[in-house]
Parts: sequence; C-alpha cells; structure tokens
Amino acid sequence: MQNQTILVIGSTGKTGSRIAAILAERGFSVRHGSRKAAIPFDWEAPETWAAALDGVSSAYVSYFPDLAFPGASEKIEALTKVAAEAGVKRLVLLSGRGESHAQAAEAIVAKSGLDYTLVRASWFAQNFSEGYLRDQVLDGIVAVPAGTVREPIVDVDDIADVAVAALTEDRHSRQFYEVTGPRLLGFDEMAAELAAATGRPVRYMPITFDAFHAAMTEAGGTFVADVFTAISREVLDGRNESLGDGVQRALGRAPRDFTDFAQAAAAQGAWRKAA
Ligand SMILES: NC(=O)c1ccc[n+]([C@@H]2O[C@H](COP(=O)([O-])OP(=O)(O)OC[C@H]3O[C@@H](n4cnc5c(N)ncnc54)[C@H](OP(=O)(O)O)[C@@H]3O)[C@@H](O)[C@H]2O)c1
Repeated sequence: MQNQTILVIGSTGKTGSRIAAILAERGFSVRHGSRKAAIPFDWEAPETWAAALDGVSSAYVSYFPDLAFPGASEKIEALTKVAAEAGVKRLVLLSGRGESHAQAAEAIVAKSGLDYTLVRASWFAQNFSEGYLRDQVLDGIVAVPAGTVREPIVDVDDIADVAVAALTEDRHSRQFYEVTGPRLLGFDEMAAELAAATGRPVRYMPITFDAFHAAMTEAGGTFVADVFTAISREVLDGRNESLGDGVQRALGRAPRDFTDFAQAAAAQGAWRKAA
C-alpha cells in the first residue's frame, strides 16, 4: 500500500493538512489537492481534476466551501466519474452532520461504483482556533445563532485519524462513520472552556439568524451569507444533539474531549495575538 499515491483534496485546510502530514509520516506518497500544488486541483476548474487523480489509488474529498453550495452535488458526481476513469479505487468523503445537501453528496459517492468511506462530521473544535471564530475568541465574545442547542463538537485530529484509516485500511470499505466528540456541549460551556484554557474572558453571545446573516454579509457578501445562514438554521435546530460512534468504531478508541483540545491549542499558541 505504501507505494501507492493518495490524493488529499483540501490538503492546506483543517482536516486535509493533518491527513497529508500523517500519511507522509507513515511513508505514503501524498499528492496535495490544492490550487497551489505542483499538480493543482481546483473545484472551479474541472479540467484540473484528471491530472490530479492520475495514478492515485485513493482520494480524500473535502469540498469547499461547503456541500450546501449550489453545484456541489454536480461537482461531486463529476469528480466520481473522473476518478473512475483514472482508475482510483476508493474515495473518502468528508460530509457534514445534519446537512441535507451533504447527505445528497454521500449518496452520490455511495452509488458511484467506486469503493468508499463516508465520514460525517459534527462541528469542528478547530473553528475556534483555526477558523472563523478565532478572532471572536480573541475578542472575548463568541457570537453564534445556536441558542441553547448543544453540539457534540469534534476535534479535527480525530477526523484526520479516521480519514487516514479509511484511506489506508480495507476494513473501512463501505463504512459510514458519524464522527463526533465524546459529549454534548452548549456554546456557553465551550466559551467557558476556552476562557479557562486561554486565561482570558470569553463568553457566548447567542444571536439571531438575522444578525448572523448581517455579519456574514459584511464578511463575504449576500450569497455566501444566504448559504451559511441556511446551513446554520439546519444544523443548529437541535437535530445534532446526540453522539455518534464513528471514532470508536473506526479507531477502537474514544474521541478527544473539547477540554483537551482547548488546553492543547492554547499551549501551542493558537490564541496568541500577533505582536
Ligand atoms: N467547519 C466545520 O465545523 C465543518 C463541520 C463539518 C463538515 N465541514 C466540511 O469541511 C469542509 C472543509 O471546510 P473548512 O471550512 O474546514 O475548510 P478548510 O478545509 O479549513 O480549508 C479550505 C481548503 O479548501 C481548499 N479550497 C478552497 N477553495 C478551493 C477550490 N476552488 N478548489 C480546491 N480547493 C479549494 C483550500 O485549498 P487551497 O486554498 O490551497 O487551494 C483549503 O485546503 C467543507 O466541506 C465543510 O462543509 C466543516
């Protein structure tokens, strides 16, 4: 297996960078799926896909920005066809828990005729340390339209471990893993954990979906705000208030806890302000 090439789409992102690093450490030949890679991969330029998939045995598929964006399903379907033509054996799809569009993409991959593993993840803990909520943690106010909903927030390191296993071990063939953290946490509890880890005040401010939409519009325009608000309305309505057993089933160990994530990220300087 180690002499086979594995494509990691999103290899500069939160999950993909970790997956690429683990695979390289274990001696696998990694092809980086990024617009900046030597052989570039661009979701917006389908003509780049065949070269990126050429000679690849398995591929990790992390879509950007989100499977809920218009055209995502069509692109996933087209990618499965290019992958099949290139002789790729297995796709490992990252999908989002409770998202109807993501579930449609899962079905496309499952019916593609290729071998596959579906990794359906809950909210990433690293949204607070590497994503759009990092600045809010630094400012001391985490504003999310989540009310009192609790989320089984997952450490991206666990998603990476599950994906690496799925890319490199046959026993994960045709498996569907719901990958969550080990407990449900309200956003007020997450803020308290972040405050404890950083030694700075951090509090949760529940906001309305309209306020979320307004903030997203300012940051990325109306179209992006529309899609992310729709996703938030979907996944923050309480449907995800349960634990998944994906980490335990795939890896034979419990998922990492948010407290450990927050303390480790703080120790690594995730919330150190630039001088
Ligand atoms: N964040 C969460 O809580 C969460 C939860 C469940 C599922 N997900 C899913 O995780 C996936 C990744 O989301 P994320 O926000 O965490 O992003 P991310 O993986 O941290 O970062 C973005 C990645 O996407 C790549 N990218 C951006 N535009 C691209 C394009 N046109 N073509 C190819 N690659 C492109 C970037 O590569 P280059 O810039 O190097 O090209 C980078 O590697 C999404 O599908 C999302 O739905 C996220």
